[in-house]
Amino acid sequence: SGSTFVPAVVVGTGYGAAVSALRLGEAGVPTLMLEMGQLWNQPGPDGNVFSGMLKPDKRSSWFKTRTEAPLGSFLWLDLANRDIDPYAGVLDRVNFDQMSVYVGRGVGGGSLVNGGMAVTPRRSYFEEVLPQVDAAEMYAKYFPRANSTLRVNNIDKGWFEQTDWYKFARVSREQASNAGLSTTFVPNVYDWDYMRREADGTVPKSALAAEVIYGNNHGKVSLDKSYLAAALGTGKVTIETLHQVKTIRQQKDGTYLLTVEQKNADGKLLATKEISCRHLFLGAGSLGSTELLLRARDTGTLPNLSSEIGGGWGPNGNIMTARANHMWNPTGTKQSSIPALGIDDWDNKDAPVFAEIAPMPAGVETWVSLYLAITKNPERGTFVYDAAKDRADLRWTREQNAPAVAAAKSLFDRINKANTTIYRYDLFGKQLKAFADDFCYHPLGGCVLGKATDNYGRVAGYKNLYVTDGSLIPGSIGVNPFVTITALAERNVERVIKEDVAKS
Ligand code: FDA
Repeated sequence: SGSTFVPAVVVGTGYGAAVSALRLGEAGVPTLMLEMGQLWNQPGPDGNVFSGMLKPDKRSSWFKTRTEAPLGSFLWLDLANRDIDPYAGVLDRVNFDQMSVYVGRGVGGGSLVNGGMAVTPRRSYFEEVLPQVDAAEMYAKYFPRANSTLRVNNIDKGWFEQTDWYKFARVSREQASNAGLSTTFVPNVYDWDYMRREADGTVPKSALAAEVIYGNNHGKVSLDKSYLAAALGTGKVTIETLHQVKTIRQQKDGTYLLTVEQKNADGKLLATKEISCRHLFLGAGSLGSTELLLRARDTGTLPNLSSEIGGGWGPNGNIMTARANHMWNPTGTKQSSIPALGIDDWDNKDAPVFAEIAPMPAGVETWVSLYLAITKNPERGTFVYDAAKDRADLRWTREQNAPAVAAAKSLFDRINKANTTIYRYDLFGKQLKAFADDFCYHPLGGCVLGKATDNYGRVAGYKNLYVTDGSLIPGSIGVNPFVTITALAERNVERVIKEDVAKS
């Protein structure tokens, strides 16, 4: 056939994908990464690679005619969004019927758009969620490996206490404390020393220039600067961008044959390629990897895939909410876009919540305290393949988020009561709404470890086919997920290289 053969293909360039590619490269395995988004290293007309949040342009969004920011409104006015030309921009919002999922597109996946919060889950909850994984080994070996390779670092507490840029966080900490709640500093992959220099005015600003969900021009150690740079450094790994994997089939000799569409950044189809490989690693994220496997199962190109594919999906209990502060309690016109504190009430049996104290870097005083609450919602969704649209559809209803809203409400009701404050109802669209329960940043599940795969991400029913990303985690991890995704990928790929790749 006219296909190109490479020993290993990795689909995607997010956390799971980047870990797999680095370790394959180190093992000497020629590896091709296929990423549907762009490599973000070329400055645009304004001299910046990314467009920023306050004046987003087409670079901000994945093929939209208007940006779709999470905080769509202020006083119910749609102030944040802009009309744009459809383009291979960096942030996608995948809109299902009753849930929208934000994901990163580009070399680095979610690491390009996320807040960089690098949280190791508490061990007891990790053990509850993934009981079949050896937690002792995870916490002794793979979490430390993930944290150091991601270059996770901690904020200088002295600086935190006195800088204007974290006044919003100190205000929220005080109010949490008034309700008897404690906060914790949250590690990050944003270089905190760089941020201090931003504050000193000696380097170009990024976190302190309201940059985050549409990319950071400086300061953030995204995967292209950590795992992927190291992977390319092995000399064994190559990355093809604007290449979207569409179909996967297995050939008679056991190798996999992929059809891949190459487009330009305006979405024009340039070529359809066939690429074959012996070992295939899916790191396209919860939505992407699940969709590829569902399509393969239901169109018959990988007919032996199990009925577990598509199951166990959850939004990590994500609920966004905001409070209105009193006039005498401003949150500041200066706000770093990178969160530094979380309210930790996970031990509360009735309503476990870990709430990131989020900035609202509007450049003007808003008196708003914003939060992304991570709750423990037992509800799960399911992806099904929609043949007519040739895409995975998510079966998840708004009502399934009621337990998550209830938990968040329990926590913030306590904070409001202790501070005689109220919720903001104007930030999440045109209707009166205090809790954003219709979008998430933390999609997890779809190819759950030990169900759709074995205990190391080997896809059930096929040899040499692996899932490496957030789809392995069954819907919830209790904290921001990328450190767990990274550490789990480290654990799995080590085993797979030793047992499957090195011996073949
Ligand atoms: P990830 O989604 O990172 O990567 C998948 C990649 O595959 C993407 O680059 C995609 O373009 C590509 N792809 C998909 N389908 C493909 C196909 N068919 N062919 C080729 N390529 C394909 N987490 C955290 O721990 N701390 C935080 O602070 C935040 N904050 C945050 C903010 C925002 C705005 C978002 C959207 C997300 C976060 N997250 C976060 C979540 C975190 O970014 C997320 O959990 C991880 O990026 C998921 O990693 P994965 O490896 O699963 O895939």
